[in-house]
Amino acid sequence: MQIYFAPLQGITDVPFRQIHADLFSGISKYFTPFISPTRNYNLTNHELSEVDPGNAHGFTLVPQIIASRPELFLWAADQLAEMGYTEVNLNMGCPSGTVTAKGKGAGMLTSLSGLKCFLDEVYSHTPIRVSVKTRLGWQNPEEFPDLLELLNDYPVSELIVHSRTRSQFYKGETNPEAFFSALPHCRMPLVYNGDLFTPGQCIEFMKANPGLKTLMIGRGLAANPALARTVLGGAPLSRTELHAYHDRLYNAYTQTFSSNAVLGRMREVGKHLACCFDDAGKVRKKIRKASSLSAYEAAAAQLFELPLRDDPGFLPDS
Ligand SMILES: Cc1cc2nc3c(=O)[nH]c(=O)nc-3n(C[C@H](O)[C@H](O)[C@H](O)COP(=O)(O)O)c2cc1C
Repeated sequence: MQIYFAPLQGITDVPFRQIHADLFSGISKYFTPFISPTRNYNLTNHELSEVDPGNAHGFTLVPQIIASRPELFLWAADQLAEMGYTEVNLNMGCPSGTVTAKGKGAGMLTSLSGLKCFLDEVYSHTPIRVSVKTRLGWQNPEEFPDLLELLNDYPVSELIVHSRTRSQFYKGETNPEAFFSALPHCRMPLVYNGDLFTPGQCIEFMKANPGLKTLMIGRGLAANPALARTVLGGAPLSRTELHAYHDRLYNAYTQTFSSNAVLGRMREVGKHLACCFDDAGKVRKKIRKASSLSAYEAAAAQLFELPLRDDPGFLPDS
């Protein structure tokens, strides 16, 4: 069984991925948050740093590209192949209105004929393996079989499915039934994604679905960095290692970013880590609302006094 770390824009950046991989085992692939080539065939300095192979020591990194025009996707795939990558991931799942309005991300799911033109171009010219990350459909999970039938016509190296439609964004119930009913008709390796937040939930899910070989986990790993290790039979998360991980992230961000940016990053990191602790509601609020680094540090110190939950992971409603 394999576990992938999902791309999380604003969280799983260069220092985060490197520190996580240095301290915690169990992740077969990390994915960059999407990079979006401009119509002038450019990437920002931040995006270039995200995909710099020199920033990925000792782990497998798959760059993710978002684009509505095949020539832009292929240009970026070419650049990445030249850097030595062997796989890129196509983002066909981002639900954000500003993204979908441009026909990107989940916006590609609004027209299967448009998507076919895009995929024809990409898969006939790509110099590199292309995997796809998508959703069950735009509006309705009943769209999924037709989407799958289309994707079956291409050498998609792997299909990662977030088991919601675009209209659900990240809310409401996931629909694993729609995902699994498609499994027998799928010619490419399938990866399940969505709302598996703790080691216990992942283990139960895999037991119930023995045909599934790979999970992609996002928020669960942002909360419990040892989730993959634990699921694969290793040690559960300890408070000491969580503290060390937190401090390494804090130090790395301090060396890289301005104080304001460090505060933004750490509030996001701390908000997720707080999910691992018992009775952390008040401290989590202090972390989310910290208006200075010293206020953040005080709240984080309180957090690490608390006991860990039995099955630590992301808490969706906290
Ligand atoms: C803050 C945030 C940022 C995200 N950024 C990306 C992204 O850049 N690319 C992408 O494909 N998905 C992105 N996602 C979706 C996640 O990769 C993942 O599909 C989603 O969180 C569901 O998985 P989970 O329930 O395990 O968290 C993002 C999700 C969140 C919450």
